[in-house]
This record gives sequence, C-alpha cells and structure tokens, in this order.
Amino acid sequence: MSLKEDINNKKLPKHIAIIMDGNGRWAKQKGMIRAFGHENGTKAVRRTVETCAELGVKNLTLYAFSTENWNRPKLEVQTLMKLLISSLKKEIKTLQDNNIKLTAIGSLKTLPEKVYKELQDVINLTKDNERMTLTLALSYGSREEILNTVKEISFKVKNNLISPENIDESIINEHLYTQNLPDVDLLIRTSGEQRISNFLLWQIAYAELYFTNVLWPDFTKEHLYEAIIEYQKRERRFGKTSEQLS
Ligand code: IPE
Ligand code: IPE
Ligand code: MG
Repeated sequence: MSLKEDINNKKLPKHIAIIMDGNGRWAKQKGMIRAFGHENGTKAVRRTVETCAELGVKNLTLYAFSTENWNRPKLEVQTLMKLLISSLKKEIKTLQDNNIKLTAIGSLKTLPEKVYKELQDVINLTKDNERMTLTLALSYGSREEILNTVKEISFKVKNNLISPENIDESIINEHLYTQNLPDVDLLIRTSGEQRISNFLLWQIAYAELYFTNVLWPDFTKEHLYEAIIEYQKRERRFGKTSEQLS
C-alpha cells in the first residue's frame, strides 16, 4: 500500500522547498565520480516534480545551485551547468504536458550565457501554465537576494518612489526574487545535513523543517509522501496557543 492514501488533500502545503543534497556522497558510495551523482539527481528532480503536480501542490522550489557552489572545482561547476542545459531541453515536454510553469530565482545574470538563454526560453514557453509553479534556485543565495532587495528599495526611496515610513513586509516581499510566491510551508533537506545553507532565509520564517538521511538521487515518491504526512501531523501555531487554534 502506498503512503499516498494517508495524505489529506485539504491540508497540502501550498509551497514546498527542497534542498536537494547528497549527490556527491551517493556517487562515492557507489565508487563513482560526483558527476554520476548529479546525473542521477536529475531523475529524482523529475520524480519529485511529477509527484507534486499529481498531488496538487501549487508551488515547488528546488535549490539547484547556490552562490557558494561557484567555489567548487571548475570541472564540477561545468558539469553542473551542462547538466542544467540538457535537463532543461529534455524536460520542456514534461513541463508542457503537465501544465507546469517554470520560473527561476537567483543571480541569474551570473549564469553562463547558454544556461541563461535556455532557461529564459523554457520560462517563456511555460509562462501561461497554471497547474503548478516550479521554481529553480540557480546561483541563488538568500543574503545576496536580501542585499539586492535593500538596494532596489533604497534606489526607489532616493527617487521618491517609496517613502521610508511606508516600507513594510509586503514591499520587501515584492522586491525579493520570490515576489509572487507564497511563504514556504514545508522545507525538506535530504542527505542528513541539518542546515539551511543560505536558502530562502526570509521566506522560511514559519516553515516546517523536515530533514531526512536519504541522499537526493534515492529520494522517491514515497519519501515525499512521508515528508508531507509528517508535515500534516504538526500543529502550526504561529505564536498562538494550541487552545486558540481549536
Ligand atoms: C547536491 O549534492 C547538489 C548540489 C549542491 C549542486 P552535493 O553535490 O552537495 O552532494 P554532497 O553533499 O557532496 O554529497
Ligand atoms: C546546498 O547544498 C546547495 C544546494 C543543494 C544547491 P551544499 O552541499 O552546497 O551545502 P553545504 O555546503 O553542505 O552547506
Ligand atoms: Mg552537499
């Protein structure tokens, strides 16, 4: 029996974000090079995207490449960028068939030209799809995003487009890369690490955190169901008392 039947469709997280970690260790365990782990990681991406769409999750955000990941060996960065281009090309049909819109967050201009172009093509082609929004965090760092937000708002203040006393949370939200996305409800990290690694610091303020030892290439539909079931068992109090909620 699948765990799917234990999921309450009325209490689905509106926004799931995933730190897809453990590709390197997965490959190492198999005596293979890290690239092999990344290749197999893309299969887990496809499974996860399809599963979220099937369940009716409206927003899925995947951490694919961080600003810090630029510090990896040049060859690994190149491999990841190539993989990104081939995956985008390959998955366009799946996205269209499943009515999924692709978006991206991060310092996208720092991506190699080819990646940037392919990404923009897929974003344009899928922009009217509305079953689910899939957001890729690429060359993404939360501090960089917040810094960028502060700069943009400052320029607007300087040009009298915003007055300082009117700056509120919604203005900050509008200037983050994630502008149209709701706050994260469920944050999943694979591979056993229990840290945030500069991902969506503002947006996860009240997210439920879920850590699993499963390495990303091994992450299956059932693992995702498990995470959602665990999420649904938790009481999200947002500062209130349990009695206030019932
Ligand atoms: C996640 O797997 C993929 C990226 C960060 C691009 P890792 O490559 O970090 O795998 P580990 O953590 O070394 O096992
Ligand atoms: C976080 O994983 C970034 C992505 C999953 C893209 P890392 O493997 O880079 O994070 P650290 O270095 O373990 O914190
Ligand atoms: Mg890692």
